[in-house]
Order: sequence, then structure tokens, then C-alpha cells
Amino acid sequence: MDLKREHLQSYLQSLYGKDTVLQSMRRMGETIATSEDIKGFGYGSPLLVEYAKGEERGSAVLSSMRVQHGFGHDHFSDRARILIWQHDTFARLPKHVRSLDVGYFAGDGRLVSAGDAQEYFLLMEKIEGKEYFWDLERVKEEGAADLDLKRAEALSSYLAEIHSEKKDLPPLYQRKIRETVGDGECIFGILDDYPDSPSFLDEGELCDVEKLCVEWRWRLRDRAGRLCQVHGDFHPWNVMFREGTDFSVLDRSRGEWGEAADDITAMAMNYIFYSVQKSMRLTGGLKDLFELFFENYLEKTGDDELLEVIAPFFAFRAMVVASPTWYPLLSDETRRTLFNFLENVLNSKRFNYRDVNSYLS
Ligand SMILES: Nc1ncnc2c1ncn2[C@@H]1O[C@H](COP(=O)(O)OP(=O)(O)O)[C@@H](O)[C@H]1O
Ligand SMILES: [Mg+2]
Repeated sequence: MDLKREHLQSYLQSLYGKDTVLQSMRRMGETIATSEDIKGFGYGSPLLVEYAKGEERGSAVLSSMRVQHGFGHDHFSDRARILIWQHDTFARLPKHVRSLDVGYFAGDGRLVSAGDAQEYFLLMEKIEGKEYFWDLERVKEEGAADLDLKRAEALSSYLAEIHSEKKDLPPLYQRKIRETVGDGECIFGILDDYPDSPSFLDEGELCDVEKLCVEWRWRLRDRAGRLCQVHGDFHPWNVMFREGTDFSVLDRSRGEWGEAADDITAMAMNYIFYSVQKSMRLTGGLKDLFELFFENYLEKTGDDELLEVIAPFFAFRAMVVASPTWYPLLSDETRRTLFNFLENVLNSKRFNYRDVNSYLS
């Protein structure tokens, strides 16, 4: 991107007043200063900016982050997160350089200040409909009606469709696996939030579970060819149904590209969860929905390999629903059954979706 002189000048004027004049720009470490546009301004190489305001002379260093894949800097939001944090914290450390402002480059290259941001918000369109978990509450009590089977099919068909978009970028797949295991919103973070020595777990059991998850992380390292478009948090509170099988999804999370198993387990774990709450087993209408959901997806995608990579994703979703924070009203027996499930799944190389009950004891 070219850093236009006029854009930098009007940005400096937005900070220091209309009489501010840009004098020169020079890449740090270089000797040649220029007052012309900077061609091919590379994110990540700091720029010394010198300006005049009446008699006064001022200077500042403009820096942004290198666009690169890996190290969790893949998305512009990752790089924004780091710069927003730096602007917020630099001044609080003694002897540390002060940040004067943080902002963004607009699509046309303008520099826009975002320095006075305190908290960010998102404005979305309003979606009509009813959250899918209400259906599961009903199926748990009354069994599955025809529409329930059609809806489970519609949900896994939707996933088959979005997952058909593939991407060749292994660092993003490794990131998905890394974050599923180690991110604050995922396995490590969820288990950090568990109380010490919960009555339904043995001493050291959570550590053993994490070790299994780390082994799976290295087992999936060479599966980057599976990278596909994902929702990222496809659970029944983020799906809203209207008439029939017409629905919308909400709350996409943790990356556009990832592992299909993450979406599959985010939904499928809830068929198991609702049934286990009632009978410590997967039975009745919820069993029919679970198996149809899988059958339809495997038929539509032919993705048999899914069953060989799914374990850590099931483990993540199982420890969320077994969590005393997220679901405070469950019995120890229910939580124990959910941990049996996740540990047995983690200890099996291939998941058999037609025999879930064998993993529950
Ligand atoms: N755009 C929307 N239209 C209708 N309902 C919404 C919308 N966004 C959120 N909701 C309602 O708010 C709930 C929580 O919103 P969500 O974005 O999923 O946040 P959270 O991160 O808390 O899960 C949703 O389950 C849904 O009931
Ligand atoms: Mg949500």
C-alpha cells in the first residue's frame, strides 16, 4: 500500500490541528527522508514522521504490524488486538515509550484515529426465530417428531455445504488445533475455570485429559488439507429456527477457516447432553437426531476421515457442558458420565457414532 503524504498530513492535522504541516517521512534505520508518498509502505517497518506546527517542530514514529501467517497474527483483527493493547498499556510502565495514538488504515489509505475507544460493540441485523435448544428441551421430554428429524438433517446439510469451501493455508489449520487445545475460550481455558478437586473427578484427572489433548494436537498436525470454511460455535443457542427447516445462525467464532469436526461436535454434543441429563445414556428421539445428523453429513461429504480427527473437538464440547460454571445445576453423575465420554473418545483412534453409549460408562 502507498502511504500518501496527504493522508498522513490530514491525520496529523486531526491530532494536532489544521496548522500542522508534514515535513518528512523516513523509514527507521534509513537515512533518506522524503516528503513525497511512501511507495509500497510495508506494514511492520516503523516510519519516522517529522512535522511543523507554527514555530514548533515535532516528530513521531508510525508503526504497524507485518501481515504474516503463523504466530497468531493471521487476521487483521489479531494485529488490531495487539496494537490496541499496546496503546492502552505503554504509558503505564516506567521508562517505556508512550503511545500517542492508535488507529487504522481505511480501504482508501486514509489514517483514522481510534485512540479514544474504551470498548468495542457490534451492530447486527435482528433475526426472527426461536433458538434451537428449545427444540431439544421438547424432544428430551416428548421424543422426536418428523420436523425434528428434518431439522437435524437441515443442520448437517448446511454444515456439509459451508465445509465444502476449502483453503490451502496450513498455518490456519495448525492455529485451529492449537487454539482448540490451548486457547482461553477452549480446552485449557475451560479447564482452568473448573473448581479445584471437583467431587466428580479424581485427583490429576484434568491434567491427564489435557495430556491426551496435546497428543491429539500432534496427531492432527499433518491434516492441514482438511482446512475449510467453518462457523466456529455451531451450538443450539446460536441457531434460530423459523417455519419448518428455515433457520439463521449467529455468533460465528474463532476464525473463518478451521476443522469441520469443530462445527459437527458443537451441535452433536448437545443431542448427547440432553439425553444424558435424563438417562445417563443416548436414547430415544435424541439418539435418532444424533445418528441422522452424522449419517446425513457423512453421506453428503464422504468425509470418513472426520471420525479420525473428531476426538479433541468432542472433548472440548463435552467439558463445556460438564462445566460447573456454564451448567451449575447438573448432578455429579451427569458430569461423571460426560467425562467418561470425553476420556473414552480421546482414548480411541476412531469415533463410532453408532455406538455412543459404549463411551458413556
Ligand atoms: N441479531 C440477533 N437477532 C436476534 N436475536 C439475537 C441476535 N443476536 C443475539 N441474539 C440473541 O441473544 C443471544 C446471545 O447472543 P450471541 O450473539 O449468541 O451472544 P453470546 O456470545 O452471549 O452467545 C442469542 O442466543 C439470541 O437469543
Ligand atoms: Mg451465542
